[in-house]
Amino acid sequence: MDSGYQAIYDGWKADPELFWSKAAQSIDWFTPYDRVFEPDSGAYGRWFAGATTNTCYNCLDRHVERGRATQPAIICDSPITGTQKTYSYGELLTEVQALAGVLQDHGIGKGDRVIIYMPMIAEAIMAMLACARLGAIHSVVFGGFAGHELATRIDDATPKMIIAASCGIEPNRIVPYKPMLDEAISLSVHKPEKCLLLQREQHRAEMIDGRDVDMARAMDASRIAARDIACTPVKAEDPLYILYTSGTTGQPKGVVRDNGGHMVALHWSMKAIYDINPGEVFWAASDVGWVVGHSYIVYGPLLNGNTTIVYEGKPVGTPDAGAFWRVISEHRVAALFTAPTAFRAIKKDDPKGQFIGKYDLSGFRTLFLAGERADPDTIVWARDKLGVPVIDHWWQTETGWTIAGNPVGLGMLPVKLGSPTVAMPGYDIRVLDDAGHPVARGQLGNIVIKLPLPPGCLPTLWNADQRFHEAYLAEFPGYYKTADAGYIDEDDYLFIMARTDDIINVAGHRLSTGGMEEVISYHPDVAECAVIGIADDLKGQVPLGLVVLNSGVERSVQEIEADIVKLVRDQIGPVAAFKLALAVSRLPKTRSGKILRATVQKIADGQSWKMPATIDDPAVLDEIGEALSARGLKKPDWSA
Ligand code: COA
Ligand code: AMP
Repeated sequence: MDSGYQAIYDGWKADPELFWSKAAQSIDWFTPYDRVFEPDSGAYGRWFAGATTNTCYNCLDRHVERGRATQPAIICDSPITGTQKTYSYGELLTEVQALAGVLQDHGIGKGDRVIIYMPMIAEAIMAMLACARLGAIHSVVFGGFAGHELATRIDDATPKMIIAASCGIEPNRIVPYKPMLDEAISLSVHKPEKCLLLQREQHRAEMIDGRDVDMARAMDASRIAARDIACTPVKAEDPLYILYTSGTTGQPKGVVRDNGGHMVALHWSMKAIYDINPGEVFWAASDVGWVVGHSYIVYGPLLNGNTTIVYEGKPVGTPDAGAFWRVISEHRVAALFTAPTAFRAIKKDDPKGQFIGKYDLSGFRTLFLAGERADPDTIVWARDKLGVPVIDHWWQTETGWTIAGNPVGLGMLPVKLGSPTVAMPGYDIRVLDDAGHPVARGQLGNIVIKLPLPPGCLPTLWNADQRFHEAYLAEFPGYYKTADAGYIDEDDYLFIMARTDDIINVAGHRLSTGGMEEVISYHPDVAECAVIGIADDLKGQVPLGLVVLNSGVERSVQEIEADIVKLVRDQIGPVAAFKLALAVSRLPKTRSGKILRATVQKIADGQSWKMPATIDDPAVLDEIGEALSARGLKKPDWSA
């Protein structure tokens, strides 16, 4: 196969500043940058220092000025409400200006934080772009997180305003957002001045006088006034958004994204990685609450002048396993990006792929998967049934775009099942042992990225430079720690095998087991607990909480286990998918008191495991194995 990849990667490595200065020509800068890369500022240097620009201008205004006013910018397709609505670039600009006017009237300006707590509706995208227009910093919180998680983010980001919808809609229920919003504000120390609330007809929320503002009414008034709300110039290094992601504790990490480098990297990726030309339709079936939604539902496609799909539905059940194919054929989608778990769900409901034949998928060229390891079964099934290349790629909330992938626009490389392929330009990937020495090819180790990180990656954590340094830079000096383990083979292909921290991946969602343990430990009947991720055919992993109860508890064990499940759902949210709590008499520990989570996980998953040399009492592992078997939670031990 003929790919331009190697020459381009080598070109980047020889002169990174030249590479990124060429990519930067695709962005409209209000004033030029002094240097492509300024090594002496920030934690590891800053990109495009000295330039001024505006992300909303680059996503909307410039396309309207240059002939895309009538091209669809977003198509909202909501099988869950049975509605569809399209906004052209011109119409979206009008809406965003109207909303920016409302925000401005409430005192929102450059540098102010605004939390957005909304489902997959057009207004969520308008809110992000309106903030960007004013130079305000948005922080979108996923609707599947409950009040307590929202409160943590309110206290960290200290927003002046929260923009929310009255409800989200799941296939089996309406999820009222307002009670969670009110609970969050009552729990948080910081109180936002205003809440802008979009009343959805499926469930209207009670408004609080003096604090809550009706979003639709305010936008109507603003639209009628037809004010021209100019794009506020911001520095390339100014934050565009904060996106919270799971860390090793219950305190999420506020990943900061800047304006300049972010636009350059995302714009470059649309053609080089996804092979998408301006004017084409791109669909990332994710949620604006996740990084995939930020980068590839909103910013990447709009920067590139594409039409992007905002899908409020699921891969199955809305109404059936043909949902994705309907959207692809109806809107002429050229490329779809989703998580492997979505395909596992489709495959489970329609193993023969019979729904696929019902739709015209002739315009569909490529399927991209990320968010979790793409298992070979899923890739092969999708490739056979769809007849298009299926591309795995690996990245993180922190990087905002692909670290390792198969750059279709540069010419596809051969696919190796189980590998997201090779390092993208910008990333010098190394594999190190725990002492920081390079390991041989083919050997497992810590995957790190040589500093500096490329444009688009996080410059720091919000208000937490020290935590940023400790979490990512301190362990391997000169490198960014990805907290993924894996290896590189003789063809430079990367294989991602596991996380090196306590993060688990549930249906493509990144969750902290430490965070769940913190919540469970508040339960009055719990003496101690350990949460692990166990293998699940659909979601990849699901959390399992092992709990040791206080002696002398009066209620039944079943009641307490159900209580714990409810506690995690109420505190973290349904997205944690925490449905398994198992009372055990003891937890396996090392002699120094460390809980042996990895060994328990291997036992549950039926993988081969070795008795840890440092274990305090080996009999505990037998007890745990028996408790798991009794609940049907232990997979057959293939190694036995
Ligand atoms: N608001 C409120 N609740 C939400 C929610 C939201 N925005 N999103 C999910 N939930 C709830 C679900 O209703 C479910 O609740 P339940 O326990 O009462 O059933 C729970 O959170 C878990 O949701 P999810 O992990 O999505 O599982 P699911 O069983 O509803 O659906 C899949 C399984 C595979 C269909 C689904 O995970 C999916 O579509 N995944 C696509 C992958 C994806 O979007 N990844 C993001 C990164 S690319
Ligand atoms: P998130 O920050 O939510 O995008 O999650 C990032 C983490 O998900 C990574 O650190 C990996 O552990 C995992 N991940 C994402 N994409 C892949 C992939 N293609 N292959 C393997 N793991 C992945």
